[in-house]
Amino acid sequence: MPEHSHTSGKVALITGATGAIGTAIARGLAAMPDFELVLACRDKEKAATVMEDLVQTTANPKVRYELVDVSRRASVQSMANRWRGPLHVLINNAATAPRRRQCTPEDIELQFATNVLGYYWMTELFSEHLSRTSGARIVNVASYWAGDFDIRDLEFRTRPYDNDRAYRQSKQADRMLTAAFARRLRNRGISVNACHPGDVNSRLSHDLGFGGHESPEQGAATPIWLATGDLQDGANGGYFESRRAVSCRFAADVDATEALFAVCRTY
Ligand SMILES: NC(=O)c1ccc[n+]([C@@H]2O[C@H](COP(=O)([O-])OP(=O)(O)OC[C@H]3O[C@@H](n4cnc5c(N)ncnc54)[C@H](OP(=O)(O)O)[C@@H]3O)[C@@H](O)[C@H]2O)c1
Repeated sequence: MPEHSHTSGKVALITGATGAIGTAIARGLAAMPDFELVLACRDKEKAATVMEDLVQTTANPKVRYELVDVSRRASVQSMANRWRGPLHVLINNAATAPRRRQCTPEDIELQFATNVLGYYWMTELFSEHLSRTSGARIVNVASYWAGDFDIRDLEFRTRPYDNDRAYRQSKQADRMLTAAFARRLRNRGISVNACHPGDVNSRLSHDLGFGGHESPEQGAATPIWLATGDLQDGANGGYFESRRAVSCRFAADVDATEALFAVCRTY
């Protein structure tokens, strides 16, 4: 029997909770009194501001933050080591799309490190915590804006860097990793699904050169539904837009998803 199945409240961990869509997802979950929320953020001041705002506006006192840089494995590992108590929901949402090619201190291209490895490491290193609760869920905030995947050049070392191409590749990879993790975590009682949130004005959309015509709340609706809603047939490994399952050719290519998974393991 899962160690934490007796708890009535649920604990959700969300990355990128200081961003446009992440804050809206966090607000939606904090408005559910059953939820305890942990905002996984890299900027202490921003995290504290969002936390205070959520506590005030939702009247849910169970909101706290943890500091993490998801583009660095050691930072994610350290947060996972610090984790105490149950975890029911993990929402991978933090992402970046810098206009110029940048690297982490470990010399990994920043979009690949944040948007792809960040999702991989959070899932890998928190799956142990998730597996101790019943019905645990992972939601990967991906995008319909996806493509340009090249397994031989994931870090744009040979292709000229273009932030839009690197972003599309990273969001394709998120959808592929969703399928690869769903296969592995199913028998540990954890479901993994991906979604397109919506087109929302944000720092990220600005860097990609579009404004976004949907509100952050609209962008948060599908991720929140995947995290808390009644999903048909115990949805697992799916890709969703506007709360509807959409077939995903990237996730359907098992060989390619396994190849990506194998590469991520090497970092
Ligand atoms: N906006 C859209 O129209 C749209 C469309 C499709 C999909 N999406 C997806 O939705 C998600 C949220 O995007 P958004 O538009 O809300 O972007 P955003 O407002 O720019 O927020 C990005 C968030 O990620 C955090 N972050 C970036 N790098 C990080 C790192 N290394 N470690 C920890 N946190 C980090 C940022 O933290 P700081 O506040 O510290 O910078 C911020 O909280 C992304 O996965 C994106 O791909 C967005």
